[in-house]
Amino acid sequence: MVIENLTLHNFRNYEDETFCFQDGLNVLTGRNAQGKTNCAEAVFYLCTGTSLRIRHDSQLIRRGETSARIGARVKTRFGAVTLEALIFEKKRELFVNGNKVARTADFLGNMNCVFFSPGELRLIQDGPDERRRFLNLSISQTSREYCTALTRYQRILEQRNNLLKERDVSMVLETLPVWDEQLSVYAARIIRHRRRYLARLSPLARDAHAFLTDGAEELMLEMDGTYPENEDEIAQKLAGQFAAARERDLRLGFTSVGPHRDDIRIFLNGADARAFCSQGQARTAALSLKLAETEIFKELSGEPPVLILDDVMSELDLPRRKKLLGRIGGVQCLLTCTHAERVLYGADCYKLKIREGKIVR
Ligand SMILES: Nc1ncnc2c1ncn2[C@@H]1O[C@H](COP(=O)(O)OP(=O)(O)OP(=O)(O)O)[C@@H](O)[C@H]1O
Ligand SMILES: [Mg+2]
Repeated sequence: MVIENLTLHNFRNYEDETFCFQDGLNVLTGRNAQGKTNCAEAVFYLCTGTSLRIRHDSQLIRRGETSARIGARVKTRFGAVTLEALIFEKKRELFVNGNKVARTADFLGNMNCVFFSPGELRLIQDGPDERRRFLNLSISQTSREYCTALTRYQRILEQRNNLLKERDVSMVLETLPVWDEQLSVYAARIIRHRRRYLARLSPLARDAHAFLTDGAEELMLEMDGTYPENEDEIAQKLAGQFAAARERDLRLGFTSVGPHRDDIRIFLNGADARAFCSQGQARTAALSLKLAETEIFKELSGEPPVLILDDVMSELDLPRRKKLLGRIGGVQCLLTCTHAERVLYGADCYKLKIREGKIVR
């Protein structure tokens, strides 16, 4: 798919600006703090309904204003789609082809993107939160069923956690089985999707990593925890785990088992990447995951996603930069950097220069 244009109105440091992108490589240049990442963030928001950098949507609204608007026209193999997000202090409204959608799940999947920035290092080196977030965002973009199951799971989990903080223990113990039954149904669906996704992602990531390191390193991904094959059996197993954890959860005041606690294990040449890899290795492994994610989107939706590379070129060594540029042919790419000349080596591209929230024309 190709994002043809992007309109930003009172979004971050943009007042009113329209970007017209081209197929292939689009390069956004500009000095620090001019709005390159903000532009990339807007595209990401239209793909995922969320941002990588924030906790509250209100931060996306230009300071001093009360609402922001992001709009885009996307060319897909099924035709053109327009996407729009209206962001207010305390709520938002999402539109597909001018029609307001009630659920986020109906908004996602119209445009897919893979986002890569230096911060993605966290995917390898940080705790499980980052990896779960990666899985959730990635699978939600391609599966409405997953997105819905995840939303419901999170809602029930929140209610269960509130219940665990109640003082009337006998009432809590009486009520918990009802929540746990529902929780296990959605949890099982989430786990089934994650397992299938990882089974696809792992060999693709291994290939990408072998390509980037000239075969010197082997990357392997594995799901945490073992679960039975079919969804009903997974649900049964989880129901048992939730029941067994009740007393402990009551003491802790939160739910201590379930897919919201699961992790992906990442190995480099057989060693746990989180514990052992260098910065450069982590960067390359994260990039391999993102390239694998690109391939999965291609497989599942029949067309490549939009690839967003925010400020990553300067972090990679020369051979890897060249390899990366060679690998992304045929994919529309939005690449941000401060100095295009230093990272592109004359690669064919469309350049946009940004200064203080405006395109320099
Ligand atoms: N809600 C907002 N309202 C107004 N300005 C904002 C808002 N949020 C962020 N900004 C400003 O947007 C500016 C540009 O941010 P951005 O992250 O896009 O820069 P960048 O061009 O990617 O720079 P760098 O090269 O340093 O990564 C920052 O100076 C920031 O203060
Ligand atoms: Mg930036």
